[in-house]
Formats: sequence, C-alpha cells, structure tokens
Amino acid sequence: MKLNWAERWVVNNPLRVFQQRLEIRWLKRMMPLEPGATIMEIGCGRGAGAKLIVQEFQPSLLHVLDLDIEMMLKAKNVLSTMPKEKVKLYVGDSINLPFKAGTLDAIFGFGFLHHVPDWRRALSEIARVLKNGGIYYIEELYPALYQNVVTKHILVHPDYDRFTSHDLRTMLHEMNLHLASEVELPKMGILGVAIRSDH
Ligand SMILES: C[S@@+](CC[C@H](N)C(=O)[O-])C[C@H]1O[C@@H](n2cnc3c(N)ncnc32)[C@H](O)[C@@H]1O
Repeated sequence: MKLNWAERWVVNNPLRVFQQRLEIRWLKRMMPLEPGATIMEIGCGRGAGAKLIVQEFQPSLLHVLDLDIEMMLKAKNVLSTMPKEKVKLYVGDSINLPFKAGTLDAIFGFGFLHHVPDWRRALSEIARVLKNGGIYYIEELYPALYQNVVTKHILVHPDYDRFTSHDLRTMLHEMNLHLASEVELPKMGILGVAIRSDH
C-alpha cells in the first residue's frame, strides 16, 4: 500500500536518514557482510537508506524495489551518484519478487512489511529468494504504534491482519528466518537480523 501525505513527510525527512544511519550501523555490527554481496532493499522509499547500505556494506550489486513509482523516481535521483553497475531499480510488489530462489545474500526491509496486505506472502518471498545462510535485516512497526487512537486518523495502512510481535516471530520461524540479534520496543517495533536457515 502506498504512503499518504503524512507518512511521506515522516520518511522523506533528514531525521529519518539520521535514524536509518544509526540503525544500519547497528545492523552491520550485529551481522557484517563480506564486501561484494548481492543485496536487495524492499520498500526503499526515496532511496536514502539504499545509499547508506551501499556505503556501509559495499555490495557488488544492490537491487532496490518499491511499489510506488513516485518514490522510485526520487530514489533514482538520490542514487544517481552511485556507480550504475552497482544499483538496479525496480517498481514492483514484495509479494512477487523478480528473482530466482536462493540467489540473494541479504535483504533489507525498513518499515515496509506492515504496509503489505498479504505480509505473510511477502515474508515467504523473502525466504524464497535468500540463499541458505542469507540475512534478512528487518526494521518493522506494530499496530499499537501506527494504528492507535491518534495515528489511525493520520496514517493509512491495511486495516486487517496486522502483525504483532508474536505474529511476526511465528511467521519468521515458519519461513526458516531465525532471529539472531534484535532490539524491540514492546508493542512498538523491532530492529533485527534474521538468518535464512533450514535448521
Ligand atoms: C514507511 S515507507 C519506508 C521507506 C523507507 N524504507 C524508509 O525507511 O524511509 C514504506 C515503503 O514501502 C513501500 N511499499 C509499500 N507496500 C509495498 C509492497 N507491497 N511492495 C514493495 N514496496 C512497498 C511504500 O511505497 C514505501 O515507499
């Protein structure tokens, strides 16, 4: 689901870039990647996070995908200083990722999954395209934060089957995505690192 004006203002904001910089550094400390990895960011928004991912993780190739063509046009602009062979942009839906099974070393998702009506299918897609041993770097929010008495009047999200911490953990486990590191603000959201592993 695309963002409304209020959430666009929240994410297209220098404070958001500052927050993402701190989060990406924490994620790297928890689980560094060898330079030269093949990475995807889903729900990249205007591309500020993707730029930080390239700087911090030095991938050989970063695929960035978003549902919203307006966001992708902003991302194209933000990422125009990156070497062309390092970044590929896609307009698409996380429930149908344009990759073969077991092909990516890592996937980043900053605050996109709670916008997806069929979030379980999006998680299964993430599990499908990651290599065994691949990493899902996750930042997600829970409904008590974005659908409380105040925020439900300001923000727009799917209004059914929203995941709590318990739901998310259950599905991650079912998809063989095992949380290795995390920080969670109870009922608010989670920042974590999950490893795709059949064991
Ligand atoms: C809250 S914004 C986060 C943007 C950016 N990742 C950030 O953290 O600043 C969520 C993004 O996910 C995108 N999105 C929503 N549903 C999606 C879907 N089904 N597939 C891919 N992207 C989606 C939205 O268009 C939006 O750009």
